[in-house]
Formats: sequence, structure tokens, C-alpha cells
Amino acid sequence: MINNDTLDFLKTKLNGFIPDTAIVLGSGLGNFTDLIKNPIIIPYSDIPGAPKPTVKGHQGRLCAGIIGKHKVICLQGRTHLYEGMDPRTILVSTQQLKDLGAKRFIATNAAGSLRTDMPAGSLMLIEDHINFSGKNPLVGAMKTPNFPDMSSAYDVGMRQKMLDIAAKENIRLFSGVYIMALGPNYETPAEVRMFRQFGADAVGMSTVPEVITAVQSNLKVLGISVISNLGAGLSSENLSHNDVLQIVETAGKKLSYLLQKFLEED
Ligand code: HPA
Repeated sequence: MINNDTLDFLKTKLNGFIPDTAIVLGSGLGNFTDLIKNPIIIPYSDIPGAPKPTVKGHQGRLCAGIIGKHKVICLQGRTHLYEGMDPRTILVSTQQLKDLGAKRFIATNAAGSLRTDMPAGSLMLIEDHINFSGKNPLVGAMKTPNFPDMSSAYDVGMRQKMLDIAAKENIRLFSGVYIMALGPNYETPAEVRMFRQFGADAVGMSTVPEVITAVQSNLKVLGISVISNLGAGLSSENLSHNDVLQIVETAGKKLSYLLQKFLEED
């Protein structure tokens, strides 16, 4: 578990830099931080008590600095519940970001499409989510349980701004519902059909626990998925993590550009 030593450590490293926006960069999106001039880089392995990601494509470091009009702290790589971590660790990490000064939380991820009209290489703005992971980072994490309102978890103003930017830049941005499966296996075709019937548009193995903790911490949330593949059974191809990484690499550049434009606004 992360503790107060972690916060002190991070404050010392950040040396007076107060981020307003925290950005989690999922598989293949790590290069986004190239936009930061003179970044402050903190490898997760240096942070006392921090969980270390074990998944290929996740770099495992914090990278802080200025992009556009904003002071950002980027998490290059995340840990997933399927790695066996205690879900409460995510709550603590999010609270630390808030304590460092963040007011906004942007989550990116790679996801499988549940719609044949949203092909691999698309970008999807998350308008809502379904927690199908069977886990919740708030369970047992608070002395007195509270009941966060999730009726507008993904901030309407940030979503509209992103849609306006995408329209202006002529970049197609789908909107949809993200469903989280625990993983680490990809879904069966039957699960993909079920998720579609639930009303989901994309499936992935991350983001939902972070967003729950961000809402609990009163951060404004934006979420975007890079669609790396059609869900199992929707195409004739089998799924492999390497294929996922390859598609994300290309589509991730479009997302980096959109995020850059987003950060150039107030
Ligand atoms: N399913 C779950 N997670 C994913 C997928 C998928 O098809 N693609 C990328 N992450």
C-alpha cells in the first residue's frame, strides 16, 4: 500500500511543481510525454510502496511538466486488477494525485470494440461505464463507507470540449459505454455478445476502478479508449497482445494529438 511517505517523496521530487491534470497513459500511449519539455521523471521503482506494472507496453514511471496551458502529471503505465493487486491501492494512488494538486483526471486505455461499425484504430470517448470486474476499490477502504454518486462520472463539460476539438480537427471520435472485465484473458464470443446486449460499446480490463476513485475524490474525469481490435467473435482473427499494441501505436498518435489540443485550452 502507498502511504504518507509516498506523498512526501513525490512532493520532494516535484519540487514545488503542482499539477492540475493527472493523465493515465494506457498500452502504447507512453510517447505522449515527449510533448513535455524538461520533464520531471520518477520511475515507479523509486517510489516507496508504489505498485509496479508488469505488462508489456507499460513503461512504469511518472512524468510531470507543462503541456499547453496545463501542468500535467502523466502516469506512463498502470497496474491492473488482473495483476493481483489490492484494489484499494488504486484509491490511495488517486488520493495522492489529488493531494499533489490535481483537479482533473484523464484516463486512456486500449479496448476491444463491441460494434462492427467501430473498427480497430477508432477512438471512443467514454460517456459512461459498466463495472463488470466483480471488484471495487472502495470496498473496505474507508472508515465510514460513503456512496459516491456515479450519475455523471465522466464530466459533461470535458466531454463536450473533447468532441468540439475532434470535430474541429476532423478526427472521428465515437462516444460510448466502456465495460470492464477483470481479465487477463480476452472475452469469449458469448461474453462479447452479452456485453453488447448490456449496452456496452467497448470492453477493456482497466480504467473503471480508477474512475470510481477519481469520482470519490471529486476529480473531474475524462476517459478515452483506443479501439485496438474487434471483440472476440466479431472478426475472423484471433486476439494477441502484440497486435493490440501495434494498432494502439498508430491510433494512439491521433489520441495524443487530440489530448495535446485539449490541453492547449483552459
Ligand atoms: N478485450 C478486453 N480488453 C482489451 C481488448 C479486448 O478485446 N482489447 C484491448 N484490451
